[in-house]
Amino acid sequence: MSVNKEVKRITTNTLLRMKEAGEKISMITAYDFSFAKIFDAAGIDVILVGDSASNVMAGHETTLPITLEQMIYHAQSVIRGIDRCLVVVDMPFGYYQSNSDIALASAIRIMKETGGHSVKMEGGKEVLDSIKRIVSAGIPVMGHLGLTPQSIYKFGTYTVRAKEEEEANKLRADAKLLEKAGCFGIVLEKIPAALAKEVSESISIPTIGIGAGNYCDGQVLVMHDMLGINTEFKPRFLRQYLNIHDLATNAVMQYIKDVKSRDFPNEHEQY
Ligand code: KIV
Repeated sequence: MSVNKEVKRITTNTLLRMKEAGEKISMITAYDFSFAKIFDAAGIDVILVGDSASNVMAGHETTLPITLEQMIYHAQSVIRGIDRCLVVVDMPFGYYQSNSDIALASAIRIMKETGGHSVKMEGGKEVLDSIKRIVSAGIPVMGHLGLTPQSIYKFGTYTVRAKEEEEANKLRADAKLLEKAGCFGIVLEKIPAALAKEVSESISIPTIGIGAGNYCDGQVLVMHDMLGINTEFKPRFLRQYLNIHDLATNAVMQYIKDVKSRDFPNEHEQY
């Protein structure tokens, strides 16, 4: 019997038990009620209300512009759609980096106003004080290391991180710090698979990989990428399970044709 099937609701403890049992954790992003409902009913373990909403929902080039209010709106919509999975809400850029008072206030707003179950924050040592205060307030925190998109202007590129020893050592140390600070999991984004394996084996909390190979304790993908809504983004790590872009285009083209030709609505589709 899988740990996932034993529980009525997935909690942060369930994820820890899944890691201990060697059961992989499935995580996907969602930003609205309808998709959250589909993913939850399909049996997903974790929904991430990612700040990738800034890209895929709002059309921005980076995740930096999204506001706390916008994240709260998306998280509220997701929460209305789910019964069982754990919901992690991204803390947006600018609402936790400056000091731990602001970070704690942002996390409290997310928890109070959305009904979300936890928050996610990018970074290691730099944001450790904030993480500790948020955890002390009883709010579960997921870390995020490797390619942290909120720092894209520092990196200058979306290429694989921690290939050099110095950056890999910092990541190893940061993972330990996040574990010690009480994080319940860590997203590892776009780092070498061997490093992700080593980090996953060196800490007791689950790692969730995106472009970090098969040895992480779980995997996360952005829904628009894996469902083929956004077909322009084709990194090597992405497996596209559907092509909604083409399906939706064909459906809408057919609808337009039917309206123009007066085929729609027919006598059965009217009152
Ligand atoms: O915002 C997001 O979608 C994320 C994932 C890429 C992990 O942080």
